[in-house]
Amino acid sequence: MTDAPPVEVRGLVKTYGEITAVDHVDLTVRRGDVFGYLGPNGAGKTTSLRMMLGLIRPTAGTVRVFGRDPQLSVRALEGVAGFVEAPRFYPYLDGRTNLRLLAALDGDDAPRRIDEVLEVVELTDRGGDKVGGYSHGMRQRLGLAAALLRRPKLLLLDEPATGLDPGGMRDMRRLIRRLADDGITVLLSSHLLAEVEELCNRVAIVRKGRIVYEGELEDLRRTAGVSYRLRTVDDERARRVCAAQPGIESTDGAGTGVITFQPADDQALAQLSLALTEAGALILELAPRSATLEDLFFELTEGDGDRELAAAHVDAAARIVEEAPS
Ligand SMILES: Nc1ncnc2c1ncn2[C@@H]1O[C@H](COP(=O)(O)OP(=O)(O)O)[C@@H](O)[C@H]1O
Ligand SMILES: [Mg+2]
Repeated sequence: MTDAPPVEVRGLVKTYGEITAVDHVDLTVRRGDVFGYLGPNGAGKTTSLRMMLGLIRPTAGTVRVFGRDPQLSVRALEGVAGFVEAPRFYPYLDGRTNLRLLAALDGDDAPRRIDEVLEVVELTDRGGDKVGGYSHGMRQRLGLAAALLRRPKLLLLDEPATGLDPGGMRDMRRLIRRLADDGITVLLSSHLLAEVEELCNRVAIVRKGRIVYEGELEDLRRTAGVSYRLRTVDDERARRVCAAQPGIESTDGAGTGVITFQPADDQALAQLSLALTEAGALILELAPRSATLEDLFFELTEGDGDRELAAAHVDAAARIVEEAPS
């Protein structure tokens, strides 16, 4: 039982009348993961999380949390905490009192941990203020504090950074990172690739209720490939050198004025820079473009025209995942 993965979801379906909110979702969160459940608004993230927390009943499929079905026993959720949508509190009570009420429900040593969790989320100074006067970021942090009262081994967080300003997002990321470093497994949902990229080691990308990719973020990044942008003292010549160079796939349209290409590997890139120099097309700028993963994300979650391309990417990613020693 203790070796069971923190979250294991198989064939999960939730329908509301005609709407299929969650459509045969499979995913596995492993111990130590910071797992990103990534998809645009309406993709079914919150509905999935509700089922993982045992808040609503699946139409079909199974959820196991540390090997237990959260629908069948409250014990299944021992060591599990989190929130969906936004954490809720009594606005006319202060933060500390809200935590005290929750701690009384949690029992054990939770009531004695209030100061500690307030400290962790950096709300010690504001614990005496009414929650109604808190900013969105402070409320999210208080939500995390409430979750931490339970000494969770697994945190399920629904869009913890959505709606925060850049500073608030950075604080939230830092906080989640710290909790993960302390050994807490985290599943967080997000509609922002950048957030997931910075925090997560593994991701599931969900589109219209379906998983279109699950795996290491690193594999997805490799599949997306890195393209480079090149500027030289003689771009016409550089273009010809790129076209003739083995291991270099030119991706720019003619006459765009910018040279972009994908090298097969670092060796191919190094050879290209040598060839350019020898041809007299001296390099002024050679920069990796980070947008590539984002392009793939949009193809996966929104594209229709490029579905084949996206499918090919995912295919390749799946192969990488299969080949990777585990
Ligand atoms: N209680 C509900 N009744 C009817 N439709 C719902 C309900 N909850 C969610 N949905 C629908 O299910 C889909 C997925 O919603 P949701 O899980 O909230 O997506 P996300 O969290 O990814 O934005 C949406 O089309 C939403 O309108
Ligand atoms: Mg949602």
